[in-house]
Amino acid sequence: MSQTTTSGTDWENWQRQWDAQQEAYLPDREQRFAAMLDAVEASLNSPAAPRVLDLAGGTGSISRRVLQRFPQASTVMLDVDAALLTIARGTFADDVRVQVVSGDLGDRNWLAAVDSTVPFDAVLTATALHWLPEDRVAGVYAEARSLLRPGGLFINADYMPDPGLESLTEGLAAVERRVRDARWANGVHSWEGWWEAVRADPALAGPAAERDAFYAARRGDDHTEWLASSAWHLEAMRAGGYAETGLVWRGLLDAAVTGRTALL
Ligand SMILES: C[S@@+](CC[C@H](N)C(=O)[O-])C[C@H]1O[C@@H](n2cnc3c(N)ncnc32)[C@H](O)[C@@H]1O
Repeated sequence: MSQTTTSGTDWENWQRQWDAQQEAYLPDREQRFAAMLDAVEASLNSPAAPRVLDLAGGTGSISRRVLQRFPQASTVMLDVDAALLTIARGTFADDVRVQVVSGDLGDRNWLAAVDSTVPFDAVLTATALHWLPEDRVAGVYAEARSLLRPGGLFINADYMPDPGLESLTEGLAAVERRVRDARWANGVHSWEGWWEAVRADPALAGPAAERDAFYAARRGDDHTEWLASSAWHLEAMRAGGYAETGLVWRGLLDAAVTGRTALL
């Protein structure tokens, strides 16, 4: 992975800051990633070299962890955000195992951005599909199935509080907020602070302006379009044609729902 470019940008530092910023909101982020990769490994015939689609991948956090765990893996990372794509492209510039592509999951033609000639072992996405409306979340599940090999996995880790714990959910959220506030007090960026830092970096100011224009034209920078329970997601996966569905991880407020395509 590339550390810097001729512009002198320290991509690794941007990756660290992104991780710290996300972990302030998601204290169990690494556990969910590890569980997702455990499930990928469990699904493989040969564990060495999975081909993974990192969907709405941001700076490529999932791709980085896939490659750490499976050095012979390859990933395609898709996102819509010009600034995050710039960080991902800088990070993986010298890494032939990763292809970074621009695509909008809000548009069902996003599939055209992904090379589908070789089937994927897994489609992994985290903290992202709640940015889409209901019909597109269901659509992405069904559309991505066409990219997967028989026995391949779609795993979506996102905010899905357990409706059976209705009275406890606010308390769980308060626990997570306390962790977040402590990290902010230690100098970790909030979401807004992170974006201010991005806009202030000459290497990222242009892509950040492109991103800001994209969201201004859409509906503003409000990222919560559709929230649903894990049961809703599992039903949408079944409707999308996955043969097996279930949870591979459950945190306090988030869960990782999984669909597996039929085995041959
Ligand atoms: C909170 S970030 C999570 C990124 C990464 N998965 C991670 O865990 O670090 C949410 C990501 O979803 C992406 N995203 C939101 N809407 C999208 C869309 N319509 N198409 C593609 N990506 C989208 C955002 O650009 C952002 O990178």
